[in-house]
Formats: sequence, structure tokens, C-alpha cells
Amino acid sequence: MDGRITGISGPTVTIDCEGLRLSEMVLVGDARLTGEVVRLGERRAVVQVYEDTRGLSVGEPARGTGRLLSAMLGPGLLSAMYDGLQRPLERLNELNGPFIVSGKSLPPLDLERSWRFLPALAAGSEVRPGGLLGEIREGAFSHLLLAGRAGVVTRLTDGEFTLRQPVAAYADGEEVFASLQWPVRRPRPFRRKLAPSRPLITGQRVIDFLFPIARGGSAIFPGGFGTGKTILEQTIAKFADVDLVVYVGCGERGNEMAEVLEEFRTLSDRWTGTPLLSRTIVVANTSNMPVAAREASIYTAVTMAEYYRDQGLHVLLLADSISRWGEALREISSSLEEMPGEEGYPTYLSSRLAAFIERAGVVETLSGRIGSLSMILAVSPPGADFTEPITQACLRYAGVFLMLDSSLAHRRHFPAIAWQQSYSLYGEELQSHFREQVAAGWSDMQRRCRELLQREASLREVAEVVGAEGLQDEDRLLMWITGRIRDEFLCQNAYSEDAFCPPERAAAQMAELLAWYDAAQKRLKEGALLDDLLSEDARGRKG
Ligand SMILES: Nc1ncnc2c1ncn2[C@@H]1O[C@H](COP(=O)(O)OP(=O)(O)O)[C@@H](O)[C@H]1O
Ligand SMILES: [Mg+2]
Repeated sequence: MDGRITGISGPTVTIDCEGLRLSEMVLVGDARLTGEVVRLGERRAVVQVYEDTRGLSVGEPARGTGRLLSAMLGPGLLSAMYDGLQRPLERLNELNGPFIVSGKSLPPLDLERSWRFLPALAAGSEVRPGGLLGEIREGAFSHLLLAGRAGVVTRLTDGEFTLRQPVAAYADGEEVFASLQWPVRRPRPFRRKLAPSRPLITGQRVIDFLFPIARGGSAIFPGGFGTGKTILEQTIAKFADVDLVVYVGCGERGNEMAEVLEEFRTLSDRWTGTPLLSRTIVVANTSNMPVAAREASIYTAVTMAEYYRDQGLHVLLLADSISRWGEALREISSSLEEMPGEEGYPTYLSSRLAAFIERAGVVETLSGRIGSLSMILAVSPPGADFTEPITQACLRYAGVFLMLDSSLAHRRHFPAIAWQQSYSLYGEELQSHFREQVAAGWSDMQRRCRELLQREASLREVAEVVGAEGLQDEDRLLMWITGRIRDEFLCQNAYSEDAFCPPERAAAQMAELLAWYDAAQKRLKEGALLDDLLSEDARGRKG
């Protein structure tokens, strides 16, 4: 499987190795740059190199590794920051300084660190495939070690182990380790998929109340520059009621990622009180890092997310932004001289995105637990044009569509989610949960709130023609309450105490707004003056 480089074109390299497989990882050149086989011919393979290829020359060696582009899974992933190829950025930083040195690698997990292993069986027991061998503790979490095959387990000891040491062995001598390699482009297996039925609380009123996301569901929010995508992703990363967050910084600014890390280190999780970072994995392929690895980054991230889902946990994958992934795919495709589709994206853009979003879901795991993987993806359409291919493809597969509106952002209405255009396809299951667990009137209030906002939109059109003074008193009252709904309910300042709002509080706030409106309507009918009602309300809230 050894060969030589026969051609180089940017990040795309042809080599003359034989016996390679598609998607096999290849080490290219004297610097042993990481690459992946993307096209195979007889005695010729095209390799996508994930590192800077400058300085590489024809004739340098290339070698197949025999395995597919994989992620290492096991204890120690939490709190880490990886690049798109799962290189541990912080540990590399300590070793080499802030620049990734091509070809210099460190394993994704610390092989020297010890972990406590608690066997679930006595030595000599027989196991079936998927049977529980034991648990490894990582902070508040348990990694379940499952048998890969049937057999008699002869060695199984309670104690401290590093990832280099086997924690168990079969009768035939095969050893079992606490970590494993998994090809990132292949979804991890589960027993069966279940329909999402519970909400994922984001703490953002406009989302939880009007456009709820299901645990195991997917949401996208497309928005132009400055509409608050990054702030929204980060705010949800901090507050979402999930066990674990995998945050992918894909092609965005590096300083934003540094800020996230710093903040997560100091803040604690409002659900458990432990530092936020200990429930977070960061995957960063920022704008200053190689484009090709950006394409791989979302797969590395989702594979780690699935791995924790398989432990029966609720995991949320956040990506900022999926558009930069699409652009990386386009660049790779064009360097391979593939036939371009719409706007230069490869024709398989949509099916790739579908397959990726498909990896979200609620599952019964191989060990019989329930785990979920939810996705919230930011989309940054160029020129805020929502008809472009990536937004359109995401729209087809995501369950919640939250459109970020530049004009709302200009008015500093944040989160700038356009309530007229957005929608959630997770219907009655989530509604009944909110009615039963949060507030009996949840669905009624939601319906009324939508109706009011809708009426406001049509009244605005009228007011543009006749002027606000030309409106009837009831209509002006309606516009007053919707103004309050927008300012006090739909807006949420990410830098204030209000950054997280539990659904109970959201329901109480909405109930109060609607009760005020009902009372005001009644008094108006009884002859009160509108201006008196409004100024009384304004004064009352100030005082
Ligand atoms: N929820 C929010 N509360 C307060 N300010 C916000 C909020 N969301 C966005 N902003 C403001 O908008 C700016 C741009 O947001 P950002 O997330 O960087 O936009 P994008 O990633 O879409 O380009 C932020 O720097 C912040 O000032
Ligand atoms: Mg941003």
C-alpha cells in the first residue's frame, strides 16, 4: 500500500498506491499529511489532503493506513477542543505553539490518563454482542463498555486503567479496551429510532413558545451577517437542557471560538452546577484553518455526539455555520473537476446534507437505553438570499425553521427570529408536554399570541396608508399589546439575566400580557379612553 505522489493540484493529490479503499485515510508526503481517498482508479487514487499542501512535491512517498477516516471514541472527549480531524488543539498548542505543524500528531485522547473501570460482570461470564461489560467514569458521566461479540470474558477487573491497557479479555485472548475507532462518515448503530416526543428547552422564549424544537429533532436558522447566529448558537450551547453539547465552529472567526472556550471554562451549567466546559466538546475549523478539514469537521463532531447518545444521553450538536461546510464541499468538488450543479455546488450537496441531518434522532441504543441527538445548525446564505442551495436543502430536512431577519437585527430586536416566516413541524406531541408539564393554557396562549401578531401585521399595512391615527381604538390597543409582546417576550438580551427563560416563566409572562389585554379591551368597551389606558400601563410598568 506504499506508493508515490504523481500529481498535485492544491489540496488534491494523485498517488499510485494499490489496494486502497474509498475513504481510506492516507499519509501523504515526507511530512505525512493526512488525506482521504476520494476517487479510485486502477493503480491510481485521488486523495483529498486535509492539511496545507504547500511545499509538497511529486515523487514523495504516500501510504495507505488501512483504515477509514475515523474518530477515536472513549473517556476524555469532554472539555476538549479538536480540529476537524480530531486533533487535540490545546494539547498540540502546548507541544508546538499556536500553529498546527503538519504531520505532527497526537492521539485525540490522552493515553496516559487513568480512568476508573467498574465491571458489570464477574470474570468467567458469558456475554452476548452488545452485552454490558462495565462502566468507565468520566466526571458525571458513565461510558458503557459493550461487548463487540459473543464469548466468555475471562479477565475483568475493577480498577484504574489508561487507554493503552485492556480492561477485559476474552477466553481466546482478545483484549478489550476502553476506547475505539469509528469511521466518521458512517452513522453509529442503534436498535431502533423513535419519534421525537419531548421538547428541547432552549430558554429562548420565541423558540420554546412559538417554534419548539424536539429532543432528537433538528432546527436550522439562516440569517445574513450580523443577524445574531453566533450569539444564538452560543446562548443555546450554554442553556439548553441536554446532557452534552458538541459545538462545531465551522469556517467562522477564530477569536469567537476562543471567547466561547474562555466563557465555558468560567460559567457553570445551570442544570447541574458543574463547569459548562465539562459537558461540552468543541470542534473548531475556523476560517484560518485548512478548508478541506472543514468538510470533515461536521462528521467528526456528529460521530462524537452519537457516541455519547449511545450511552443513553441527550446530546445537542450545534454548528456555526453549515454554509461554510457546504462551501468547503464545493471547493473540494471543483478541485476534483466534478460536474457542478446549482451555483457551483456538487449535485450531491442535498443528499449529503440529508444524510447528515438524518443522524439526529431519538434512539433505543444497543444497550436498550434511550438517547437522543438534536441538531441546531446556523446557515449563512450569501447576501441573506434564502433561495440559495444550502438554505433550500436544509429546509427540506430540518424540523424547525427559524428565519433570522436583518431588519429585526437592525432594530436590535434579538433573537432576530422572524415570527411570520418561521415554523416548527414538531406539533401535538410537544404541545401536550407543555400543557401537562408547564401550563395548561400553553396551546391556547400560543394560538392567541400568533393571532395577535398576525393581526398586527395586517394592521401595519393599513396604518401605512391611513396613518396610525386613522386606526380604530381597538386596533391601536392591539398594536400596543403586540408591541409589548415583541419587546418583552420575543426579545431576549443574551447579555442580561434574561438570557435564559424557563418555559414556566415564559408561560407566566404571556399569561400576564394576555390578561392585561383582556382587561384593557373590556374597559375600552365600557367607555374608558384609550390614551388613559395606555399611559396608565406605561406608568404602571415604570413604577
Ligand atoms: N440575543 C442577543 N442579545 C443582545 N445582542 C445580540 C443578541 N444576538 C445578537 N446580538 C448582537 O448582534 C451582534 C451580531 O451577532 P452575531 O451572532 O455575531 O451575528 P452573526 O453570527 O449572524 O454574524 C452581536 O455582537 C450582538 O451585539
Ligand atoms: Mg457569526
